[in-house]
Amino acid sequence: NPAYETLLTRTDGPVGIIQLNRPKQLNALNDQLMDELSAALRAFDTDEAIACIVLTGNDKAFAAGADIAAMARYTFADVYRSEYITRNWEALRHVRKPVIAAVAGYALGGGCEVAMMCDLIIAADNARFGQPEVKIGVIPGAGGTQRLPRAIGKAKAMDMVLTGRMMDAAEAERAGLVSRVVPTDKLMEEALAVAHAIAAQPRLAVLAAKEALNRAFEAPLAEGLQFERRMFHAMFATQDQKEGMAAFLEKRPARFEGR
Ligand code: CAA
Repeated sequence: NPAYETLLTRTDGPVGIIQLNRPKQLNALNDQLMDELSAALRAFDTDEAIACIVLTGNDKAFAAGADIAAMARYTFADVYRSEYITRNWEALRHVRKPVIAAVAGYALGGGCEVAMMCDLIIAADNARFGQPEVKIGVIPGAGGTQRLPRAIGKAKAMDMVLTGRMMDAAEAERAGLVSRVVPTDKLMEEALAVAHAIAAQPRLAVLAAKEALNRAFEAPLAEGLQFERRMFHAMFATQDQKEGMAAFLEKRPARFEGR
């Protein structure tokens, strides 16, 4: 899409692909990139033809964090007034279709936080995750202190956030930050295979499953269970539930229509 200067976008059938593209700055996130990213996500989210979104960077960096060059001279008043970098975080959170982060190379600071805002992370074996903000006199500002402990537990999250150290792909997989690790040259192939597997499922069930799963991180257990139960019941109002169960019983492939 020529409207974007810091992103490349394309589609692969029902999969929308967004590539962060400021390679000289290791895809450091500035306001332009974040504005474009939220616009691109919104465009795919509202595009009927798209069922799943993959967000990626390049082999060297997913994103090395917020743009320090842009940020260095900001005062409290500047960032508080403008919501520098952070003004788009909610946009990412409100994408309703599944978003897969395909991470190779550095995912640091805001880059790690953007990856964690996605629904799942697939890592290349050269991926490095970290929240190094403390080393430059700030703290994670886009969910790092909240999503990282939910993903990897308090001890490891404190270790990462307080020392600023990086975690390699193997450790990230052991810790539960990423769902799989693949050779770097197979990263997009694997991410697209997962995206296509999701895109082949009944669309309403996928939306409802994502919504229900996210409740696990935002609501008390009783409320999450209640929400899940209601969404489960709601699926019985869909055509794809009738088709999916009939196809199973008739031992034939299902033909889902997304309604
Ligand atoms: N912001 C701006 N520019 C960055 C950047 C960043 N976060 N990360 C890398 N770059 C730039 C470098 O300045 C360098 O530019 P020049 O070629 O013009 O000098 C270029 O990208 C390549 O980087 P390096 O030469 O440093 O590459 P390297 O391979 O030696 O090191 C690295 C790679 C370890 C990732 C190192 O670049 C680094 O530590 N980057 C900063 C990581 C960081 O601190 N991120 C957190 C930012 S704060 C944040 O994100 C706040 C928040 O929560 C919202």
